[in-house]
Amino acid sequence: MQSSNKKLDARVPQSEIGRVYDEIASVYNMWGRLTETKARSRALELAEIQDGQHILEVAVGTGLAFYEIVRRNPHGRNLGIDLSKGMLEKAKQRLQILGSANYSLQVGTAFHLQEEDESMDTLVNNYMFDLIPFEAMGRILAEFKRVLKKGGKLILVNMTEGERWGSRVYDRIYNWSPKLMGGCRGVMLRDTLHQHGFKVETREYHQQLLFPSEVIRAYKSV
Ligand SMILES: C[S@@+](CC[C@H](N)C(=O)[O-])C[C@H]1O[C@@H](n2cnc3c(N)ncnc32)[C@H](O)[C@@H]1O
Repeated sequence: MQSSNKKLDARVPQSEIGRVYDEIASVYNMWGRLTETKARSRALELAEIQDGQHILEVAVGTGLAFYEIVRRNPHGRNLGIDLSKGMLEKAKQRLQILGSANYSLQVGTAFHLQEEDESMDTLVNNYMFDLIPFEAMGRILAEFKRVLKKGGKLILVNMTEGERWGSRVYDRIYNWSPKLMGGCRGVMLRDTLHQHGFKVETREYHQQLLFPSEVIRAYKSV
């Protein structure tokens, strides 16, 4: 079981996250492409999106995954939210080419989703829990569970604890300056998901430029 006391906890308060990401929005794509592409692509494969679904991406960022989600779900409903207006602005620019008929991008927080109970087939959430304090993770997972349909799919990617040579370097940078890492430290969500009513079907470890990610497919337990 994951015990939070020996682990690195979040050190950038949620009240500052919107501003931190507004400031790095213009360079985020470069970071995302260098270190996160493999994990993000694998997450999209595991999502197995079928056209016509209701899909919510929480912490949509600059829309790196959301663009692919909308492209694969042209007749469905695609909703993306994020705390940072700067990141959302970049996402809107990226999505322009797809028209605006079947998606919306809004400012919002994972702690209070606007969607109705049991309204989503799939919820995607990439590289957000690594910024969330351990004590707050359960509240977000309760929201995810509320909006997912029975048996609904949760696709998660997180910066995780390094398992291979050199991969702990990012946690060392975080220890020195959390903001330099955009507030992200390595987390492992499998046990936390089980504790909050999700059945974890798969958890994979991926590493790119030494940056460690976990990719999880889980289902809302019925
Ligand atoms: C590391 S970026 C990842 C962005 C995107 N998911 C990706 O993979 O490229 C983290 C994002 O989480 C957003 N975020 C952090 N806490 C959030 C919350 N409570 N609700 C919604 N978004 C949040 C930040 O604003 C930022 O855009």
